[in-house]
Amino acid sequence: MIGVTHIPVLCEEVIENLVSAEYSLFVDATVGGGGHAHHILERYKGIRLIGLDADEEALHIAQEVLRGYGERVQLVRGNFKDLKEILNGIGISSFDGILFDLGLSTYQLTGERGFSFNDEVFPDMRMDDRAELTAYDVVNTYRYDVLKKIIGEYGEEEKAHRIAKAIVEERKKRPIATSKELAGIILKVKKRRGKIHPATKTFQAIRMEVNREPENLRTGVLDAIDMLNRRGRIGVISFHSLEDRTIKGIFKTSAVVNAVTKKPIRPERDEIRKNPSSRSAKLRVAEKI
Ligand SMILES: C[S@@+](CC[C@H](N)C(=O)[O-])C[C@H]1O[C@@H](n2cnc3c(N)ncnc32)[C@H](O)[C@@H]1O
Repeated sequence: MIGVTHIPVLCEEVIENLVSAEYSLFVDATVGGGGHAHHILERYKGIRLIGLDADEEALHIAQEVLRGYGERVQLVRGNFKDLKEILNGIGISSFDGILFDLGLSTYQLTGERGFSFNDEVFPDMRMDDRAELTAYDVVNTYRYDVLKKIIGEYGEEEKAHRIAKAIVEERKKRPIATSKELAGIILKVKKRRGKIHPATKTFQAIRMEVNREPENLRTGVLDAIDMLNRRGRIGVISFHSLEDRTIKGIFKTSAVVNAVTKKPIRPERDEIRKNPSSRSAKLRVAEKI
């Protein structure tokens, strides 16, 4: 996407807490626009990096951004839920460090793929366009009680009941055909207060359902821990308390990693000022025993 840049969040903190000059192979499980990857490769000249992303467009951008690093970089399209299979497929059975930077990149939000409230396009929201389920299917076919549960649990939206009801009522007239229409339905139930759009939590919930984010995260992180070398580190940047709780729980109960961060690392005020989308980011890091 020309003219749009994704600013990597907690970049210095990732370099400082997750990467070491002793590493030889690092996996960026969500390479996106290549922001973190670029900084890691620049700082540690001895590191080779595998960059994974489910989104083809993201990989094109990463390819451009990381072109200068030549054979030190290998980009692969795939879902991190299949991490083991994907890496085994290119002859890799272990690595020294891995980063998961969850959520969306700026390119996806501005790419007219239905992720944004103002998108007058088909409500798609798939990160991987080979997947079958779209946001259109979720809002137009899911039963009221399932919609309410998703919006309540994944969105942590206190008005989940009213929003789910409004969606079901509205689609009786005609299918909800664009993301802007969906945002409009939510706006009728939840009035605008402050800077955050009232549809934010519902959009997040639907996106998480479409991309099976909670299940994929658990599978990907458990496989990553399994494949980490001794003294290697895993880092996860999450933007949602459900994700943060999942990571905290895995790091706490795993017998093979120790949490390096007892409390998650949060962006400094200055970073939030420069990049407001970093405001809810939390980085947790653990080390393989
Ligand atoms: C926040 S962006 C990453 C930005 C990147 N760290 C940077 O600095 O440019 C998250 C990326 O993860 C990708 N992604 C999300 N879930 C994924 C999954 N289960 N498997 C692979 N990629 C995923 C998205 O497509 C998106 O490009």
